[in-house]
Amino acid sequence: MRKKIVAGNWKMNLTLAQGEQLVNDIVAAGIKLAEGQEVVVAPPFPYLIKVKQLIRNYPGIYLAAQNCASEKSGAYTGEVSAEMLASVGVDYVILGHSERREYFSESNAQLAKKIDLALANGIKPIFCCGEPLEVRKAETQNEYVARQLEESLYHLDAAALKNIVIAYEPIWAIGTGLTASAQQAQDMHAFIRARIAEKFGREAALGLTILYGGSAKPSNAGELFASADVDGGLIGGASLVAADFTAIVKSL
Ligand code: G3P
Repeated sequence: MRKKIVAGNWKMNLTLAQGEQLVNDIVAAGIKLAEGQEVVVAPPFPYLIKVKQLIRNYPGIYLAAQNCASEKSGAYTGEVSAEMLASVGVDYVILGHSERREYFSESNAQLAKKIDLALANGIKPIFCCGEPLEVRKAETQNEYVARQLEESLYHLDAAALKNIVIAYEPIWAIGTGLTASAQQAQDMHAFIRARIAEKFGREAALGLTILYGGSAKPSNAGELFASADVDGGLIGGASLVAADFTAIVKSL
């Protein structure tokens, strides 16, 4: 059975004190997770060690970084390597978020290198894909996402793919309040799973967790997560409010 995950991407938000309070409030909610269900919190780099300490006694809650370098180590001022993240106990790393692709020009090829470094250090990538509004309007979203998968994931083998999570985040839904419909999400998730099956085999595809991200809220998470190929969510704004985030987790 594939994992069901709700991951909170804090992005560049909160002070350390606010982040500690958020994690404590999430933990205090006493969410009961079923077998195979996971909660992931992705704070900014400076808070990783503290958040790891706060969640260490709560099985089912995992730590993610929001990025890692595409080089192993060395003279890359300001960068944070996958090895460094592993040394502080990071479990997952979000890679290829549309904001990094847009603002920091991350390419599919560069993301393939990041994925390899994360896997080499025992960290599970949450690989983000998704189309901009103009592509959706042109109805070429499948071709767009297929290229992202091919250029960043197809160099892997089926064994490596077991440690990958994919997050479909239509760019036009991120931070806009314009959530994809459950049908739109299901259609793209089913397409992604079919492409993964073609490349890596049916078993690998059936075991792959595919998350939806883009204005997921307590009001729409239940309908989104009820879709056959939607295995949870990658949550932005709503992850900064403990009551909203825990409500979304309860929708799993
Ligand atoms: O990584 C998740 C994020 O991009 C979604 O943001 O605020 O639309 O939930 P938001």
